[in-house]
Amino acid sequence: MSNFKVLMVCLGNICRSPLAEGIFAHKVGERSLEEQIAVDSCGTGSWHIGNPPHIESQKIAKKNGIDISSQSARQLRKQDGKEFHLLVAMDSTNKKDIISLCGDSASVVCLREYDSERDSLDVPDPYYGGPDGFIEVFNIIDRSCEALLRDIQNTYLKQ
Ligand code: 4NP
Repeated sequence: MSNFKVLMVCLGNICRSPLAEGIFAHKVGERSLEEQIAVDSCGTGSWHIGNPPHIESQKIAKKNGIDISSQSARQLRKQDGKEFHLLVAMDSTNKKDIISLCGDSASVVCLREYDSERDSLDVPDPYYGGPDGFIEVFNIIDRSCEALLRDIQNTYLKQ
């Protein structure tokens, strides 16, 4: 299959899903898979439409060699459920909200289904905490995206 489209989804599209988009795109680039896999992100909420990622998300990404500064927040649309092959929710509430807007036919998973070290299905929301929360979130998203990309390569790109 060519151009498998992945959509990372959180609540505000300023903390977690911009990191997931940037980290996943970086891994896709490392494997030269840009022609086969595309990634975008959005939020279920509307508060931050048009805003850049949270400064702490930008900082932790940059520290790890990933530039997410040019991203701009957008809200989830009903048609995203049809346009994207996989919608990846950062937590269970995001998953529920995606299904209520996009319907049961959308292909929706929680990112931490791919986290072998998970103690919860939710990527914790770092919005109300300090910088350390963003470091933890980066590490969770990084190892989950690694496994997600492997799964997409093995499951979908070989069809
Ligand atoms: P995110 O974090 O869903 O990871 O982008 C949040 C950002 C903003 C808000 C909540 C969560 N907010 O309520 O504005």
